[in-house]
Amino acid sequence: MDEVENAPAAVKASAHWWQKSVFYQVYPRSFADSNGDGIGDLEGIREKLGYLELLGVDAIWLCPVMRSPMADGGYDVSDPRDIDPMFGGVEALDGLVTEAHARRMRVIMDVVPNHTSDQHVWFQEALTAAPGSPARGRYIFREGRGADGAEPPNNWPSIFGGPAWTRITEPDGTPGQWYLHIFATEQPDLNWDNPEVFDDLAATLRFWLDRGVDGFRIDVAHGMAKPAELPDMSLANNRLLANNDDDLRFNNAGVHEIHRRIRKVLEEYPDAVAVGEVWVDDNERFGEYVRPDELHLAFNFRLAEVEFAAEAVREAVENSMSAVATVGGTPTWTLSNHDVAREVTRYGGGTVGVDRARAMALVELSLPGVTFIYNGSELGLPNVDDLPDSALQDPVWERSGRTERGRDGCRVPLPWEGRQPPFAFTTGQPWLPIPPAWKSLTVEAQIEDYNSTFSLFRKALELRAIRPEFSGNDIDWYGSPKGCLVFRRTGGLICALNTTNAAIPLPPGEVLLATQPIEGRQLAANAAAWLV
Ligand code: NOJ
Ligand code: CA
Repeated sequence: MDEVENAPAAVKASAHWWQKSVFYQVYPRSFADSNGDGIGDLEGIREKLGYLELLGVDAIWLCPVMRSPMADGGYDVSDPRDIDPMFGGVEALDGLVTEAHARRMRVIMDVVPNHTSDQHVWFQEALTAAPGSPARGRYIFREGRGADGAEPPNNWPSIFGGPAWTRITEPDGTPGQWYLHIFATEQPDLNWDNPEVFDDLAATLRFWLDRGVDGFRIDVAHGMAKPAELPDMSLANNRLLANNDDDLRFNNAGVHEIHRRIRKVLEEYPDAVAVGEVWVDDNERFGEYVRPDELHLAFNFRLAEVEFAAEAVREAVENSMSAVATVGGTPTWTLSNHDVAREVTRYGGGTVGVDRARAMALVELSLPGVTFIYNGSELGLPNVDDLPDSALQDPVWERSGRTERGRDGCRVPLPWEGRQPPFAFTTGQPWLPIPPAWKSLTVEAQIEDYNSTFSLFRKALELRAIRPEFSGNDIDWYGSPKGCLVFRRTGGLICALNTTNAAIPLPPGEVLLATQPIEGRQLAANAAAWLV
C-alpha cells in the first residue's frame, strides 16, 4: 500500500489537487484575441497556455464564456450549456481543456445560478405567459404596490444602482407584473423554490463535467435563496457594489441546502471542485459554506479589501484562516479580481504601488491553502482609471446615473508585446483601450528581465511548488517591529513583510526570494522576503 492509502483520514483529505493549488483567473474578453475582433476568446487563451505553464499555475478559472448578450460581461447567461460564438463555441472550449490537461493544468468555469439573462428562453417564455403561470414561476414576478400596481413590490435597490425591480408590459399591452433583478435589468433572478431551477443547474454542471471541465466558480454563492415574503430592507448601509452582512437579500439559511445538492452532483466526479463567491464577513457564517458537504472552497476577500498595513494584513490572514478552521476547510487568498480595483492602484499606484503589490504577492503565495491570481497581477498592471466615458461598458456606469465608473478599469486587455497599443492583444481594436504607458509592462518586456514582476511571480510559484518548507496547514506569528509582520509555515518557510517606509533588519535564515534587493540583511521599505 502506498503512503496515502495508509494515512489517517485527515492526511488523505489533504490529498485533493485543489487544496494547495494556484489558480489563474482569466477574464476571457481581456486575455488574448485570436481573430482580430478586439475581444479575447478561448482560442486566444489556448495559444497562451505556454505562458501560463511558464508562470507555473496549476489551474485556470475562466470567467463566464457561456452564451450571453454581454449586458454584464457574460454574467448574464442566455444558454448555460453553450459557449458564446464570440468566444469560439463549444469546440474552442474542448480544445482549450484538452490542451490545458495535456500541459497538466486544470480548468474551472464560472456558473451563474442566481440569475439568467433576460434573453434566456425561460425568461422570454415568462414574458409571454400569464401571471401565476409555471413559466413566471421560474423567476420572481410580483404584483406592484399602490392602487394601480405602479410601485415596485418592495424597496430593494439593485447592486448596480436603480431599483431591483422592472415592470413588464403584459402580452395584451397593459402595464403588468414586476420581476426581481438584484443586478442589472437584463439579469432576472431565478426562483430557487422552484425545483426546475436546481434540475437545470444540475444538468449544466454535468454537461460541462462530462466534457472534462474540472469544476466551477459559483457566482453569488451567498445569494440564490431569498427571504420569504421579500420584505423591505434597511437602506442605511447600502452602497453600490458593496457587501454588507446585514443585507437580507444574501446569506439566507436556505442557500446551504442548495450547496449540499450541488455538492452531491460534483461528488459524481471525484476530482471536481466548486469554489463559491461568498461575500460574507462573519467568520462563523462564512465557514458554513465550506462544511464537508457544501462547497469545496469559498473565496475569502479579506486580502482584497485590506489596506497595505502589516497589522491589518495580519488580522485579515487570521480571520481568513479561522473562518474555515472550525469546519476543516481550506483557506483561500485573493488580492484582486474582475470586480475590484487592481492592487497596484489600491496600494497607492506608481512605483510604490507596484512594490507593495509585489510584497503582498509573496505574502499570499506563502500562506497555506489556495491562491487566486487575477490575470495581469503577474505583470503588475495598475487599474486604468481614466478610460473615456464613451468606452465604459460596466452596467454600473449607466445604472448609477453615471456617478460610478464601475469595474472596467480592472478589465483592460493584457499587453503582450510591442511598443504601442494594442500590444498584440489583438490585431484589431481592443474592446477597451490599452494605455500607451503599458509598453514597459508587456509580457515581452518582462519575461527575460530577472527583476520584473513576472519573474518574481514565476520564481515564487516555482519555489512554492518544489520546496518542502511550503508544507503544513498552519502558521506561527513571530514578534516583529511595528508596521511589519513575520510568520512561519509549519514546514519551515518564513515570510517577512515590511509595510513601513524604512528598512528593517531581516529575521534570521537564508533568503529564498525577496521583492527588493537585500542589502546588509535589511528588508527594504514596502517589501517582503521568504527565508528558510
Ligand atoms: C459577481 C461577479 O463576479 C460580477 O462580475 C457580476 O457582475 C455579479 N456577480 C453578477 O453576476
Ligand atoms: Ca476574438
